[in-house]
Amino acid sequence: MNSCFPTLLVWSMSLIFSVQSNDTYGYLGSALYLHLNVENILNSSDFLLKKDTTLVFKVNKAVSKFYQEYRNRTVIYPNGTIRFNEARATDSGHYIVEMFDESGTMLHKAAHSVIIIESVVEGVLGSSALFHLKNKTHGTEMKWNKGGAVVASLRNGYSRYFGYYENRAQIFENGTLRLHKIQENDLGIYTVNVIDKDGNNAYIEYAELLISNLTELPCLYGATACSVTFFNEHMDGRNISDAKWKKGENSVAEFKGPTPCYYEEYGSRAEIFMNGTLRLDRTLKTDTGNYSVEFFDNKIKQKWITQLFIMDAVSQPVLKYSCLPDGEVQFYCSVENGSDPVFQWSLNGNPLDGDSVRKHVLVVYNDSGSLVCSALNHVSKKQSDLVSFTCAGRRRMNSVIWYVVAVIVGIAVFVFIPAVAMHKRSNTNPQPLTNLMVLTPVPQQEDEMPDHPSPTEDRVCTTATELSTFTY
Ligand SMILES: *[C@@H]1O[C@H](CO)[C@@H](O)[C@H](O)[C@H]1NC(C)=O
Ligand SMILES: *[C@@H]1O[C@H](CO)[C@@H](O)[C@H](O)[C@H]1NC(C)=O
Ligand SMILES: *[C@@H]1O[C@H](CO)[C@@H](O)[C@H](O)[C@H]1NC(C)=O
Ligand SMILES: *[C@@H]1O[C@H](CO)[C@@H](O)[C@H](O)[C@H]1NC(C)=O
Ligand SMILES: *[C@@H]1O[C@H](CO)[C@@H](O)[C@H](O)[C@H]1NC(C)=O
Ligand SMILES: *[C@@H]1O[C@H](CO)[C@@H](O)[C@H](O)[C@H]1NC(C)=O
Ligand SMILES: *[C@@H]1O[C@H](CO)[C@@H](O)[C@H](O)[C@H]1NC(C)=O
Ligand SMILES: *[C@@H]1O[C@H](CO)[C@@H](O)[C@H](O)[C@H]1NC(C)=O
Ligand SMILES: *[C@@H]1O[C@H](CO)[C@@H](O)[C@H](O)[C@H]1NC(C)=O
Ligand SMILES: *[C@@H]1O[C@H](CO)[C@@H](O)[C@H](O)[C@H]1NC(C)=O
Ligand SMILES: *[C@@H]1O[C@H](CO)[C@@H](O)[C@H](O)[C@H]1NC(C)=O
Ligand SMILES: *[C@@H]1O[C@H](CO)[C@@H](O)[C@H](O)[C@H]1NC(C)=O
Repeated sequence: MNSCFPTLLVWSMSLIFSVQSNDTYGYLGSALYLHLNVENILNSSDFLLKKDTTLVFKVNKAVSKFYQEYRNRTVIYPNGTIRFNEARATDSGHYIVEMFDESGTMLHKAAHSVIIIESVVEGVLGSSALFHLKNKTHGTEMKWNKGGAVVASLRNGYSRYFGYYENRAQIFENGTLRLHKIQENDLGIYTVNVIDKDGNNAYIEYAELLISNLTELPCLYGATACSVTFFNEHMDGRNISDAKWKKGENSVAEFKGPTPCYYEEYGSRAEIFMNGTLRLDRTLKTDTGNYSVEFFDNKIKQKWITQLFIMDAVSQPVLKYSCLPDGEVQFYCSVENGSDPVFQWSLNGNPLDGDSVRKHVLVVYNDSGSLVCSALNHVSKKQSDLVSFTCAGRRRMNSVIWYVVAVIVGIAVFVFIPAVAMHKRSNTNPQPLTNLMVLTPVPQQEDEMPDHPSPTEDRVCTTATELSTFTY
């Protein structure tokens, strides 16, 4: 398994190639390659590279030299490419190349414009994004542009918005620009020009807006110590050679070109596939969390997220009963293992329904019959053995007591019949079809995971397909 080494400029680099211009773009702190497109620079007799009026690099009679701050952080390749190791904001600007022959005749002259992007802003389609100024020196005028069009300006505390950006943009005193309702074509480079109190250009900053499209997928449930598969069948043939999988903010795995690599523990228990699928093996309760996969599609970062819940599968339930003095039978369905189990019951082969039968204690009035219980959660379902029960004998044994009780009850009934009858008539709710009731409150199995979703939250989540036959 390959291990991943985190890269600093996560996913912004892939957009360098998308900007349609002759400008060279670089990102603050990472390497900048400036292709001068001139051959034989190193053995030329007279070559100059200037940034505005400052000398950067010079060749004189095949002896080359970098100047000042460029000395320790710049490299030139024989093919005419210059590399700035850690690009600085001040590397933005115009670079002028001049080349002369021995007689001083100019052979070549060109200008290259370099833009160092200081901040990369990620905007989710439909929501808003903030562009902050890095330099804390705020001018008297700040103007945000995108591709030659003015977005917003703030001058002496007075803000203005332009064209397409009216009602969608907001500029703050500190120069921060906020763009609302991000759309696909908002992606690109934003420039802010800051003018000082004397009317001079103080500085320019560049920010790049990347767009991401968030798709929330249904929740996923997995059993402890099993395998779980994410993002299966959602990619349908897309090229995701740049895909990254994460749990929360932590990387799980990614493709570097065609090569998969894995972070930390995932090297030994995860596998990623070109079709977008991530498989996690030997699952633990701590794997519960939010997982995402990100990949580029038409310059837009597509991000799919899903919530995973890892739970213990239920063990086979054990069904026991006890006869209550009044002829009722109380059943206990117990499971040794299993996260958040709910129960189903079947009396004489007939399933009992209603919310109350989802508990693990059930009382029936039948004095004989057969009963079976099932325990289930999102990942498993198990049935107990069939239990035939009879509680009639117990009634005969206590017949004397019952006789006395019957007399008392008889009197009580005689007295209360009118009241009961009246109550029944006023009760408009239909009586349940099955003759059962549940003792309340019912003690539930101890919850091992405090952040576990209770079965009442099931509505938010869609169960995995293989469990869709489980109905509560
Ligand atoms: C880039 O420069 C070439 C010539 O060097 C020119 O023909 C072309 O139009 C330029 N492209 C842009 C987008 O400015
Ligand atoms: C520089 O070197 C290349 C080969 O490396 C040669 O073709 C070229 O003529 C040389 N140029 C000068 C100006 O000496
Ligand atoms: C370049 O690095 C050397 C040591 O590696 C140091 O002595 C020198 O001051 C540095 N020069 C500049 C211009 O930073
Ligand atoms: C020149 O060579 C360097 C280092 O090998 C490479 O990174 C760069 O892309 C090359 N430039 C061009 C224009 O091919
Ligand atoms: C600028 O002001 C806005 C609104 O008060 C705030 O949300 C934003 O964080 C501020 N930006 C910076 C860089 O302080
Ligand atoms: C901020 O801008 C001022 C000019 O207004 C400049 O002198 C200063 O160097 C800039 N600071 C940084 C950290 O770029
Ligand atoms: C965003 O994702 C949804 C769901 O996958 C998709 O239908 C839609 O086309 C995507 N939008 C864009 C602009 O990529
Ligand atoms: C994705 O690839 C894996 C491994 O090849 C395979 O098991 C899985 O069925 C594939 N999924 C789809 C939807 O094709
Ligand atoms: C996917 O894209 C990468 C780079 O963008 C490319 O190298 C690769 O050949 C593509 N694969 C397919 C199957 O299209
Ligand atoms: C996972 O995402 C959901 C919904 O988006 C959120 O409510 C929950 O807090 C997240 N869980 C974690 C562990 O971040
Ligand atoms: C419950 O889990 C424990 C530990 O995993 C196991 O030893 C035990 O056999 C399980 N009980 C049942 C009834 O499966
Ligand atoms: C026992 O339960 C069944 C329902 O499964 C019911 O039809 C039957 O009437 C009950 N018998 C008695 C004696 O209550």
